[in-house]
Amino acid sequence: MANSAVIGSQWGDEGKAKVIDYLSEKSDIVVRYQGGANAGHTVIVDGKKFVFHMVPSGIISKDKICVIGNGVVFDAEQFLCEIDELASRGIDIEKRLFVSDIAHLVLPYHKIIDIAREEMLSKETGTKIGTTGKGIGPAYSDKSVRCGIRTGDLLDFDLFVKKFSEQYNEKKKMTEQFYGKKFDLSLSQTIENYRNIAKKITPLLTDTAYFLFEQDKKGKKLLFEGAQGTFLDIDHGTYPFVTSSNTSVGSVAAGSGMAASKISEIIGIVKVYTTRVGNGPFPTELFDEDGVNLQTIGGEKGATTGRPRRCGWFDSVLLRKSVQLNGFTKLAITKLDVLNTFKKIKICVKYEIDGKITEQFPSCVETFAKAKPIYEEFDGWQCSLDNCKSYDSLPKNAKIYLNRLKELCFGVDFCMVSIGPDRSQTIGM
Ligand code: GDP
Ligand code: IMO
Ligand code: MG
Repeated sequence: MANSAVIGSQWGDEGKAKVIDYLSEKSDIVVRYQGGANAGHTVIVDGKKFVFHMVPSGIISKDKICVIGNGVVFDAEQFLCEIDELASRGIDIEKRLFVSDIAHLVLPYHKIIDIAREEMLSKETGTKIGTTGKGIGPAYSDKSVRCGIRTGDLLDFDLFVKKFSEQYNEKKKMTEQFYGKKFDLSLSQTIENYRNIAKKITPLLTDTAYFLFEQDKKGKKLLFEGAQGTFLDIDHGTYPFVTSSNTSVGSVAAGSGMAASKISEIIGIVKVYTTRVGNGPFPTELFDEDGVNLQTIGGEKGATTGRPRRCGWFDSVLLRKSVQLNGFTKLAITKLDVLNTFKKIKICVKYEIDGKITEQFPSCVETFAKAKPIYEEFDGWQCSLDNCKSYDSLPKNAKIYLNRLKELCFGVDFCMVSIGPDRSQTIGM
């Protein structure tokens, strides 16, 4: 069976969760493999809204198995909140949710340091990254420095207490002496809290890499749920205005333990305009009425932090780089309906940088910050898409827009077009 990965092609919030939910019908297992509770993944089914930060979006599809892989930085407190909410809404997770026993934990001190560092950056340099404050950078730092605490450490609680106490002292020193902030965390209370958390989490801990290997051998279809987007990738994104994991396709294998050769379909999620939360350059960002309309009509507000998302026209230079990095085999187009009322719509086809025209995305952020967009303009379709049930039935101008978008993205075929937030508002292809 072809296993598929779903990857955000832009700066996140492309509508990945909606696509995951749609594709999970034809899959057996949904796997998160990177990122943490910085993700905000929204699924709407029959008008009912679910927002996930830790739990894979496939969980609302009955009988599907969900896995949190080793590459995720696991926020146990957030995870348990989501499980409780699912239970209160009648969704049973019994025997269908597994957590890697070697995933690194995001602990309360990671969030304290994340916020303290942002405050310091803001004060001293005037520019912060604009993180979600969920402790992502500090947790991945500990993993790299090799002082992280993993989910499996909860199995031997005395060992967890030893490691946690050591880290607690180090982080307290760092917060108070380096960042000059109060370290507002009680050692004893946190340990007691984690004693309870451990009781709830440890039954779910699994060697998920082996589990996935076995399931794949049995012919089960795996669906890998990416978080964030390609330009938030720690290597290939607009560094330092990125997250702390690899968000492009390379991390599917590392973050799940599934061999790369077993992932044959790579689906890029492409929003028909561009958004970004947090700081960093954004050449097609709009500060006019069109920008406000994209934000308002598109409901562009962060699902994790509630911050308004910055909005701009579709950037095909960015997308071509995304196709190049990820090797997308299919594109899933989202939020086409948001453009319904626009008279004119633009696509950025090239950049002007220091007086030179280029179609190539610059790898260095300082150069990227100088990019001025060069646009092609399209007539809008100015009607509702509610009655469109097939690609052919889309308005003529919508097809002209999408055909050009496809041509600019190296002709990669579409597998679906999303025309509204609900599961039912989807044109499969
Ligand atoms: P993700 O992080 O990529 O999963 O995306 P988010 O859930 O953060 O943000 C996408 C937002 O757009 C959510 O509020 C979705 O309900 C909504 N959405 C997804 N697809 C569509 C669509 O085709 N049209 C409209 N209008 N909204 C959509
Ligand atoms: P989903 O999965 C959009 C952004 C933050 C910030 C930068 C670093 O919902 O698409 P972090 O907390 O990760 O250290 O913040 O990355 N960011 C996202 N932007 N969607 C996301 O996830 C994001 N996760 C992180 O806004 O600019
Ligand atoms: Mg999101």
